[in-house]
Amino acid sequence: REWAADPARPVRTGPGGERLTPRGSAAVHRATVRGRSMPWSTAQRVVAGELWREMSGLLSRQMVELEARNTELARTNEDLDSFAHAAAHDLKEPLRGISNAAAFIVEDAGAVLDDTSLRRLTTVRRLAERMDGLLDSLLHFSRLGQVGLEREELSLDEVVDDALLVAGGRLAEQGVTVVRPAPLPWVRADRERLREVLENLLVNAAKYAADEGTGERQVWVEAVPVAEPGGEDGKGGGPVTAVVVRDNGIGIPPGQHEDVLQLFRRLHRREERGGGSGVGLAVVKRIVERHGGRLWLESPAVAPDGGGGPGDDPGPGDDRRPDGDRGPDGGGPGTAVWFTLGATDTPRLPGAGA
Ligand SMILES: Nc1ncnc2c1ncn2[C@@H]1O[C@H](COP(=O)(O)OP(=O)(O)OP(=O)(O)O)[C@@H](O)[C@H]1O
Ligand SMILES: [Mg+2]
Repeated sequence: REWAADPARPVRTGPGGERLTPRGSAAVHRATVRGRSMPWSTAQRVVAGELWREMSGLLSRQMVELEARNTELARTNEDLDSFAHAAAHDLKEPLRGISNAAAFIVEDAGAVLDDTSLRRLTTVRRLAERMDGLLDSLLHFSRLGQVGLEREELSLDEVVDDALLVAGGRLAEQGVTVVRPAPLPWVRADRERLREVLENLLVNAAKYAADEGTGERQVWVEAVPVAEPGGEDGKGGGPVTAVVVRDNGIGIPPGQHEDVLQLFRRLHRREERGGGSGVGLAVVKRIVERHGGRLWLESPAVAPDGGGGPGDDPGPGDDRRPDGDRGPDGGGPGTAVWFTLGATDTPRLPGAGA
């Protein structure tokens, strides 16, 4: 080791007493490092080699096990989908039988039946109809897990237009205006499925619009770059485009964000708010995940540029957006549904039927 001066030399006493001075001499002092590392012995090498082999063996065994478990999980999921599909399909036929039988009874013996019995038979038919609807939803949901995607380059604006052919009526009925602050980008996705996603989200914006409030009822459709969190394998993390559908409606309590994504889960009674069976968001989540993307909710909803968030009162002349438009203000706390669409389809195991 070479030092600029002897590190062991005591501090010199000057006229003003003891003080640190730049080392005067700067004569290079050579210090000897005592205690050198010794070469490994043969026995140590053998032990280290063994440890290395053990560790890499353990790792590769765990990799194989993990892969096998993933395959098994995928197969189990697929089995569940096939089971749900088959069960829903097979249940529909006897259900039709029940409904028809009830109808025949009313037809043949309606004249001799009392009012209570007639009412009960009508209930049987109504319930059978509802169950048929639920089975259809289940069939659709399980099918989404089985069929492949047909990805193509799509103009998101065009897909929103398509979705509005269906959702537009409901939005107009509720006085909700659709705002697209900027042209939407092109995405690589399955056209029909993506339309279904947007249709569901736009219809929800209409169904769950705020009941009162001075603000205009609005739903915003925007594309926002977000940082994708790194995967567990340490990969990923690059910026991706997220699509966000944000309204200024009644909002979803934060504790129920997970719940509403479940199949058949509603926060309202069946017939409230235009009815529904609680399938929409579960279907949306499934489609997004089939694309390799992810979905998350935000409520109260906040505008991505920090301006014009719901719940605040911008007052007249407020002009926080470059184009002079405001985000969803007034009304309720609002809900934002965010989703990304992965770049590639997640391949299903061979044998996944139609
Ligand atoms: N934009 C929204 N604002 C407020 N609440 C919402 C919104 N979207 C969904 N929800 C809540 O989440 C629940 C589940 O939504 P989902 O779309 O899955 O089902 P649904 O609208 O009740 O019925 P379906 O979509 O099957 O006709 C809804 O019942 C509602 O309570
Ligand atoms: Mg819905």
